[in-house]
Amino acid sequence: MIDGKKVLFSGMQATGNLTLGNYLGALKNWLTLSDEYECFYSVVDLHSITVRQNPAELRKRARSLLTLYIAAGLDPKKNCIYYQSHVSGHAELSWILSCFTYMGELNRMTQFKDKAAKHADNINAGLFTYPVLMAADILLYQADVVPVGVDQMQHLELTRNIAERFNNIYGDVFTVPEAYVGKVGAKIMSLQDPSRKMSKSDENPNASIYLMDDPDTIMRKFKRAVTDSEGCIRYSEQQPGIKNLLDIYCACTGKTPQEAVKEFEGKGYGELKPAVGEAVISVLRPLQEEMKRLSGDKAYIDSVIKENAEKANYYAMKTLRKVQRKVGFPDRIR
Ligand code: TRP
Repeated sequence: MIDGKKVLFSGMQATGNLTLGNYLGALKNWLTLSDEYECFYSVVDLHSITVRQNPAELRKRARSLLTLYIAAGLDPKKNCIYYQSHVSGHAELSWILSCFTYMGELNRMTQFKDKAAKHADNINAGLFTYPVLMAADILLYQADVVPVGVDQMQHLELTRNIAERFNNIYGDVFTVPEAYVGKVGAKIMSLQDPSRKMSKSDENPNASIYLMDDPDTIMRKFKRAVTDSEGCIRYSEQQPGIKNLLDIYCACTGKTPQEAVKEFEGKGYGELKPAVGEAVISVLRPLQEEMKRLSGDKAYIDSVIKENAEKANYYAMKTLRKVQRKVGFPDRIR
């Protein structure tokens, strides 16, 4: 609890171009949480180097992700928006927690198996201990809730196990976090293969709408979106391509699937696709303009970075010092 509010932690990686899926599925929902929770939103750059990065590129993307948080409407006075690498407590707590995590547990992580298969030439120890760092992120702020997608549920479950294990030995040190299951964010699928999630790491650029795509590109991608040969517009699992287009349309317009289906009654895919494209363009346009404006305001963004890193450090250190005492590290002499 901070000032009578429950604490919420989440983070995103600054790798790959962010997609409409990241925005509609995650970022947009974060906006609704800042009144109810004390929110920490991190740009998790420590996690990013588990796969090889170009340094200049990583730095640039990290800044643009941080800027995007603000452009999307998160008020940095109310939400702690910061770089993970600016708070050394993440790495320090991660080390301690790694001594309370079993190899067997980490071996079971499906994301590790996937990533190891994908980066067979660089299966480094960081890739393996990635979930411990994620546990440290969350536990460092004594987070009560963590909004995560299903792909991160296993990591959150591990975090809870580590917290409980630690608490069993040392008393109540960590808040055991819960997954945040509020109004579910839209799950946006690939435009080229609606059985897969829209992903920033998809090699096919037509599969994803990137947040910085211009209107022509957006239209073109929607016109090429994979559908089916049914020819009618229903909201059904039998028509995953159409369902995805309707989901995107609804997430952008605030309409319900029923309303959308009614609107397109008797119409063809040739009418649905550009309508979805237009809806997306009108959501992304203001976001892109705000990105541009904020990116030009270096002094402001710098001040956010500095102030919020200080705030994050303050809370992180409170937990870290307590943990260090509990495990038996000597007190600091002041
Ligand atoms: N691993 C998460 C992802 O790839 C990002 C992340 C890092 C995170 N630390 C976190 C998410 C803590 C929630 C809480 O999506």
